[in-house]
Amino acid sequence: MFPTHRPRRRRSSAMMRDLVRETRLHAHDLVWPLFVQEETDDAVPIVSMPGQFRHSIPTLLTACEQAVEAGVRSVLLFGIPNHKDPQGSQAFAPDGVVQRAFRALKAEGFPLLLMGDVCMCEYTSHGHCGHVEGHEVINDASLELLVKTAVAQARAGADLVAPSDMMDGRIGAMRKALDAEGMDQVAIMSYAAKYASAYYGPFREAAGSAPGFGDRSGYQMDPANAREALEEVRLDIEEGADIVMVKPALAYMDIIHAVRGITDLPVAAYNVSGEYAMIELMAREGLMDRRRGVLETLTGIRRAGADIILTYHAPEVARWLAEG
Ligand code: PBG
Ligand code: ZN
Repeated sequence: MFPTHRPRRRRSSAMMRDLVRETRLHAHDLVWPLFVQEETDDAVPIVSMPGQFRHSIPTLLTACEQAVEAGVRSVLLFGIPNHKDPQGSQAFAPDGVVQRAFRALKAEGFPLLLMGDVCMCEYTSHGHCGHVEGHEVINDASLELLVKTAVAQARAGADLVAPSDMMDGRIGAMRKALDAEGMDQVAIMSYAAKYASAYYGPFREAAGSAPGFGDRSGYQMDPANAREALEEVRLDIEEGADIVMVKPALAYMDIIHAVRGITDLPVAAYNVSGEYAMIELMAREGLMDRRRGVLETLTGIRRAGADIILTYHAPEVARWLAEG
């Protein structure tokens, strides 16, 4: 009781606060998502995500070099093809843009973990994440396309594949196919609890991947459901996921915390495009101190239970952390 107990004593100096800090950010925990576009020479700024670009392969290499210098260890690639068709065939074409990007990155020998987002929506003419018949996304027929995409990325040099489609059974199907191809060392980070979220708005502009009809609520999760997230996570773990992810992060802190409680696997959280844009736009309007806002947000995601954070702020945060 007061005056014996004075919690403020532990806040009395910067050194004391550093000593008792419970949660720390480290550059090694961050993954930087990047967009790579076909047939462009320059990096094209993404208007909805100030500071982010659709890269060409040459500018991607430069961005990755800078990320390495900043202390980032992992990048996650999204491809934007020139040609879209109903099957999303550029997702698994051996010379698809992401496959070419992985080969170019491997050739440079950057000390980076190379991750590929595996989904069909950037590649399909209808903008859905799998195989479409009529106005329906067919689960089991989608698996074949997704598995081909994961294998194509792994063959091109991905160290890890990250399926973001939310079809049932895709983790098991991918694990089996990768193992059969002799790629048992390629890891799977599952977007295990991925919600049908309005916070993907800026991404869909960036990747041109908005669905042409309907929405994704037939496969992505209902934001109202928490227990269902645990079921999704358990299934993906049983099927062989190496890392499980919750996405988005900020409106789903309870889910991150609950997932942390049911598994000893690493838990990742995706600080998505809309969460990024909120900070950027607030900072631009002078409504928030950008650096403090970003660090507070990421610290909160770590505190909730995430080991790994996917964030568009990764290189900048890595630089700030190195500065101390
Ligand atoms: C593809 C995919 C999306 C995101 C990651 N992978 C978009 C979507 O599901 O519509 C969102 C990433 C972000 O908003 O930053 N399925
Ligand atoms: Zn998708």
